[in-house]
Amino acid sequence: MRIGVAGVGRIGTMHAANLNALPQVDEVLLYDPVPGRAELAATEPATRAVPELDDLLKESDGVLVATPTDTHPTLVRACLAAGTPVLCEKPIAAHVDAMTELIEEVEAATVPVLVGFQRRFDPAMVDLRRRITSGELGAVYHVRATGFDANPPDFAYLPTSGGIFRDLLIHDLDAVPWLVNEPVVEVYASGSVQVNEAFARADDVDNAVVLLKFAGGAHAVLSGGRHDPLGYDHRIEVLAARDSVAIGLDPRTPLNAESHNHDAYPGFPDRFRHAYRNEMVVFTEVVAGRAENPSPARDSLVSLRLAEACERSRRTGRPVRSEL
Ligand SMILES: NC(=O)c1ccc[n+]([C@@H]2O[C@H](COP(=O)([O-])OP(=O)(O)OC[C@H]3O[C@@H](n4cnc5c(N)ncnc54)[C@H](O)[C@@H]3O)[C@@H](O)[C@H]2O)c1
Repeated sequence: MRIGVAGVGRIGTMHAANLNALPQVDEVLLYDPVPGRAELAATEPATRAVPELDDLLKESDGVLVATPTDTHPTLVRACLAAGTPVLCEKPIAAHVDAMTELIEEVEAATVPVLVGFQRRFDPAMVDLRRRITSGELGAVYHVRATGFDANPPDFAYLPTSGGIFRDLLIHDLDAVPWLVNEPVVEVYASGSVQVNEAFARADDVDNAVVLLKFAGGAHAVLSGGRHDPLGYDHRIEVLAARDSVAIGLDPRTPLNAESHNHDAYPGFPDRFRHAYRNEMVVFTEVVAGRAENPSPARDSLVSLRLAEACERSRRTGRPVRSEL
């Protein structure tokens, strides 16, 4: 099997290396419009740079899109037109209207489109979801999700980031409803600027809390922020009628200075390495027609709508109840 990677920046390079390590992948093709970038990344023997996007589309059995967000709809449409299965990094489109339009096209085509929300591919999360949806855990009472980055992003990126809910908390706004497997009926969000005034200048916040209420009565509390002095702390805990499960709570969780001294997670590539590796395994299985798509395009609308509701709630100070 041949897999093409469009965009070999930060995350595309990591995905290409993970694809290259899979026995079912014979060759990884790389395309990037920045001259020399794909060639520079094509270091492994089974990796080859191609000069044009069309070459990637013609030669690949599946294409991974790891380009800036504003290019995603165009590249996904190019894959649909070529009849090539695609895994597109999140989000597949930046706004609800553009995403809705794209999803309609995706669903009218017969080509699988997976969205790169890596928590859906994390073996521990997949197992937790199985235990919840099969009834093994009993009723879910409460979910706690923690999402603190070690350091803020480049301040120049803030005005284009979409804000803390669309940019940082979006992963948990996708993963938590996916785990609980019920509609969210109410959202309340609050935020503040404590890390750096650059967030206020970008009309954003750098620390936030979200309360989600599910149709069955369960609550989830999501907390997140742009600076954790001890490292990258992203975990999810579920309390249910028969068991309580914590994911991401291990000796590398940056909870105190002692764990920091002992190799705390520095960032997402390390904390989610099993998820990213499995994401490539599942993608190749979907390309081969042997697996269902665990992260379909339509599900992305749920997290984006929730992120927009969070933004409304934090600005008005009121809960948002709607067709979420
Ligand atoms: N799932 C995750 O954990 C995660 C983490 C980081 C980034 N992302 C997402 O991945 C995407 C890329 O982020 P990044 O940090 O790797 O960005 P990046 O800027 O480091 O890399 C993007 C690359 O795409 C190339 N590019 C631009 N236009 C292109 C086009 N039309 N065709 C092919 N290549 C093109 C650029 O030259 C660059 O090399 C973003 O949408 C981001 O939201 C997801």
